[in-house]
Amino acid sequence: MPSFCDLISYAVDKIYNSLLKLLSTCIARIKCLLYGIPFGPGLECFGTVYMIRAPYSRIELGKNVQIISSSRRATASTLYAPTRMKTLSRTASIIIGDGVGMNGASITSRSKKIIIGDGTMLAPNVVIVDFDGHALWPPKDRQHTPSFETDADVVIGKDVWIGMGAIILKGVSIGDNSVIGARSVVTRNVPSGVLTAGVPAKVVRLLANDKEPAVRTDV
Ligand SMILES: CC(C)(COP(=O)(O)OP(=O)(O)OC[C@H]1O[C@@H](n2cnc3c(N)ncnc32)[C@H](O)[C@@H]1OP(=O)(O)O)[C@@H](O)C(=O)NCCC(=O)NCCS
Repeated sequence: MPSFCDLISYAVDKIYNSLLKLLSTCIARIKCLLYGIPFGPGLECFGTVYMIRAPYSRIELGKNVQIISSSRRATASTLYAPTRMKTLSRTASIIIGDGVGMNGASITSRSKKIIIGDGTMLAPNVVIVDFDGHALWPPKDRQHTPSFETDADVVIGKDVWIGMGAIILKGVSIGDNSVIGARSVVTRNVPSGVLTAGVPAKVVRLLANDKEPAVRTDV
């Protein structure tokens, strides 16, 4: 039998979360309309979502996208920062598929495309970028050579699960149904239907069963 305090604590949490969702979703939808960011029906937000779109660039949200941007609502971990989607130049794109969920994610496209497939889940504090940001060499050039030529598309397939704190670097493709372990740094392509983990991330094992064989395209 739950105690009085259990009931109060549960009820306050539920009411607070419902109000936060309502308010955050309204504000996010208004921002999308004002900033020229198309979104599908069913968009839900919890907390402040940063959406910063450079002129001519694209940010698009599919149907039933859920964006958690508050530690209060995030289940697995405290969020280090609000969810952020930012494009930095006219050729940049961030395309979020139907039913994608994200928690305090940071997605930044500088000049290429970042595409996240339908049904993909980003656990708390995932970072995705399509650029490095500075020339590697010589050192004196780093501050003023942005190295745009190394920018590359990031394509994440459908029903991928990316674990807490993972970092997805430029040029990476992740195949459908794969799982990326917590805190992994993904620097190379990941095939479909595998568990990949570590720094740098490596394929740990196939996840698919006999009926749905994993396609090892780039191990
Ligand atoms: C991806 C995950 C679920 C896989 O769990 P699992 O199936 O139990 O994996 P295992 O423990 O069998 O690991 C298999 C191997 O990969 C390694 N591994 C698993 N996750 C790893 C990680 N994040 N980083 C480095 N290595 C990892 C294990 O050490 C093990 O290596 P070994 O075979 O040499 O011993 C789990 O590793 C993980 O990241 N959990 C967190 C998920 C998350 O972010 N949830 C948030 C809620 S949305």
